[in-house]
Amino acid sequence: MKTLLMSRWLRGVGVAAVLVLAGFLGIVTRVLASEGLVEHGRYVFYAAGCVSCHTSDQLMAGGRSLVTPFGTFYPPNVTPHKEYGIGAWNEEEFVRALREGVNPQGEHYYPAFPYTSYTRMTRQDMQALYAYLLTLPASSRERRPHDVQWPFSLRSMIPQWKSGRFTPGAYHADPEKSAQWNRGAYLANALGHCSECHTPRDFLGAPRRDRYLAGTCTGPDDRVVPNITADRKTGIGNWTYEQLLTFLRTGKKPDGVFTSSLMAEVLGTSCMRLNEYDLHSLAIYLQSVPQIHNDLDTLCTPYDDSFIYE
Ligand code: HEC
Ligand code: HEC
Repeated sequence: MKTLLMSRWLRGVGVAAVLVLAGFLGIVTRVLASEGLVEHGRYVFYAAGCVSCHTSDQLMAGGRSLVTPFGTFYPPNVTPHKEYGIGAWNEEEFVRALREGVNPQGEHYYPAFPYTSYTRMTRQDMQALYAYLLTLPASSRERRPHDVQWPFSLRSMIPQWKSGRFTPGAYHADPEKSAQWNRGAYLANALGHCSECHTPRDFLGAPRRDRYLAGTCTGPDDRVVPNITADRKTGIGNWTYEQLLTFLRTGKKPDGVFTSSLMAEVLGTSCMRLNEYDLHSLAIYLQSVPQIHNDLDTLCTPYDDSFIYE
């Protein structure tokens, strides 16, 4: 009798222990999975260059300006602050902002926020990005209204702009091309980072697809941003694959001079954080970009800015 009771008791303890262990393992798996998600989100965050526009003193807290020929945008605080950031949003609202370029109230964003590129991100990358953003310290910096000239100041113009130029949806791989080329295209187009500066913008601040990576005289800080298409005379068509890789890894150009200013920052916050596979993917893709002849040395003279509106 005693042994029977004892064995029942032991069995009870055994079952309880198994249950506790299972619960514990469940929590551990969930924590690990969410850590994995946050880690992945951090990678996407840097590859997509979110830092550059939204960060002055504190990650993603805003405070920078984006000067364009028709006015100045102030990219807002997107830290997890409930009132001044995106802390009150849910994941679906965040995905919609990147995918469709609308806020939770249904208002349209200016394409100066490059959702025209980010719309091509996979849902998994957007979710990971959201999980990562929620781990950043919250900031109470208030948003600053954009200082854009009329009629561009009217948000009601944006849907009309979008209807002709913007098709939301994730990147579709080109089955004719290699997996690595497609990864490079994804990095360059969905995460969209290179195009933000190297492609001239149209009147609402969106990159002009027909001048993709062809450079501009009026980049951020009113700087000349070079043509990086494969055009041999005015682009980087005469760089070898190895020279391009070296540049992405170190900032050293084929002539031995190191790149300066904005590009050095991009390399530090973005390219140098890419893994080897992604660096190669980007280089392979960049070398395949259609050549565009755009001679900025001649165009970018101080008083001739007519080409901006061409
Ligand atoms: C080229 C500059 C630029 C880059 C890069 C950029 N943003 Fe923005 N972002 C903006 C601007 C400008 C706005 C404001 C748009 C508007 O008011 O219509 C904005 C708005 C937003 C908003 C909406 C906030 C709100 O309160 O409605 C979110 C969310 C956001 N950005 C997240 C991101 C993320 C995530 C990344 C990286 C994947 C990123 N941004 C990269 C310029 C940028
Ligand atoms: C924030 C703006 C910005 C972004 C984003 C950016 N660049 Fe640049 N890039 C510049 C500027 C400005 C220069 C010129 C720097 C100089 O004069 O040293 C430059 C120079 C270069 C050059 C050297 C070209 C030459 O002829 O000297 C290459 C190559 C290049 N960028 C590639 C890229 C790639 C690839 C990406 C995306 C991963 C990228 N850039 C993203 C601003 C940017």
